[in-house]
Amino acid sequence: MLVIEAQNMAKSDSNEDGFTITDNKTGKSYDLPSRTGRMGNRLIDISKLYPQTGILTYDPGFSSTAACKSSITHIDGNKGVLLHRGYAIDELAMNSDYMEVCYLLLYGELPTPEQKEDFDNDIKNHTLLHEQLIRFYSGFMRSAHPMAVMVGVVGALSAFYHDQMDITDIDERRLAAHRIIAKMPTIGAYAYKYSLGMAFPMPRNQYTYSENLLQMMFSNPAEDYEINPVLARAIDRLLILHADHEQNASTSTVRLAGSSGANPYACVASGIASLWGPAHGGANEAVLKMLGEIGSVKNIQKYVKKAQDPDDPFRLMGFGHRVYKSYDPRATVMRESCHEVLQVLGIKDPKLELAMELEQIALNDPYFVDKKLYPNVDFYSGIIMSALGFPTSMFTVMFAIGRTVGWISHWKEMLVDDEHRIGRPRQLYLGEEKRPYVPMDKRGHTDKKTGWSWLWGGKR
Ligand code: CMC
Repeated sequence: MLVIEAQNMAKSDSNEDGFTITDNKTGKSYDLPSRTGRMGNRLIDISKLYPQTGILTYDPGFSSTAACKSSITHIDGNKGVLLHRGYAIDELAMNSDYMEVCYLLLYGELPTPEQKEDFDNDIKNHTLLHEQLIRFYSGFMRSAHPMAVMVGVVGALSAFYHDQMDITDIDERRLAAHRIIAKMPTIGAYAYKYSLGMAFPMPRNQYTYSENLLQMMFSNPAEDYEINPVLARAIDRLLILHADHEQNASTSTVRLAGSSGANPYACVASGIASLWGPAHGGANEAVLKMLGEIGSVKNIQKYVKKAQDPDDPFRLMGFGHRVYKSYDPRATVMRESCHEVLQVLGIKDPKLELAMELEQIALNDPYFVDKKLYPNVDFYSGIIMSALGFPTSMFTVMFAIGRTVGWISHWKEMLVDDEHRIGRPRQLYLGEEKRPYVPMDKRGHTDKKTGWSWLWGGKR
């Protein structure tokens, strides 16, 4: 057993005070430095643990591991605080537009009016897609999930901007960041238009980022399209609420992919793949499906009980978070926004009533209280998006569009971090020890009826 003892508390990112670990097997002790960021938890710096001691740490799911240092986003999960570059998410959602938040995440400060204008214009310069890239869509079935299309088309961007891309050059990094932020709404909207068999509308420079997204999603080439400012603002706020969230699965995926020096567009495609899962960004789609399945208030108790049954894989989608052990601050804004949007649009959505009832029942249920499971950002976002006219399959695409700035900001931050190295986790090996090779004629025979499930560990 290893015994870890804390020494004096460090006040800043220093390694003066640290920890001593003692290996009870050998009696040997090792000093490990401690690090404390400007805010947040104290850390044991184990980066030299293995080279100095030959000991590895084990942390599946990285619950206790800080994989990098970062100055972009701070979360206090116990207090339900989310700050981007020091600014609270609710203040940003109420006062900023998405472009401003993108600038903030990328460059560390809110833009001046001149910086904002330049940034807006530069993003508008990159919204068009190469005609060859547009041909990629026709390779997909019309019924393909738009997230599958996103993974493919965003990944394909790397083929268009690879040879001339030098990621060590600051201007090229900036260009890649602006380009990907600019193209995501076009790529996402075209995934939807393709599924409908409709023509691809051009992005239009007179519109803001969110107006453009709205226009490309919902305009009809046979008619003029009038922007509804309420809808555009709701989309903008939704994008802000999804813009970044520290070292979540998709951001860590982008960082890990990028740590090898890979093409940034390919790295963002890997982030999209990670986001798609129902435990991450795919939860917004899953919430609406779940509300549909629950159907009515009278069934809520049944589903709340199902979610508690250890033998039932069902979980309350949109509930729980690895970091938040109190209300997700994004969910608070999202819930308010949801009421506002439905009210302005004059929509009475029974799913909202069902969601509010479910939230109340779960928040008062001892299982959810004890495990600190609160609604997360995905709980209300789907209801807003369906009120705005987005089909369920596009919900995670919207999340991906909003999160792109977070991914690329972390990619950029990582590349200039002097401590950055290729990401290369280790493992706790449980397999066979070295054994002699067995020739085919000495391996015996298997019953063909056993099938593959045996090899895959049987039914789970
Ligand atoms: N419904 C029922 N039980 C739950 C839920 C839930 N939604 N979430 C966690 N639990 C239970 C879980 O069964 C476990 O119980 P036990 O300790 O008895 O085994 C305990 O709570 C801890 O759960 P965990 O899976 O170990 O926690 P995690 O930190 O690994 O997972 C999570 C976090 C978000 C994946 C999980 O809460 C979950 O699956 N939630 C539903 C999916 C969801 O809403 N995802 C969106 C996350 S927020 C948006 C984003 O950032 O992507």
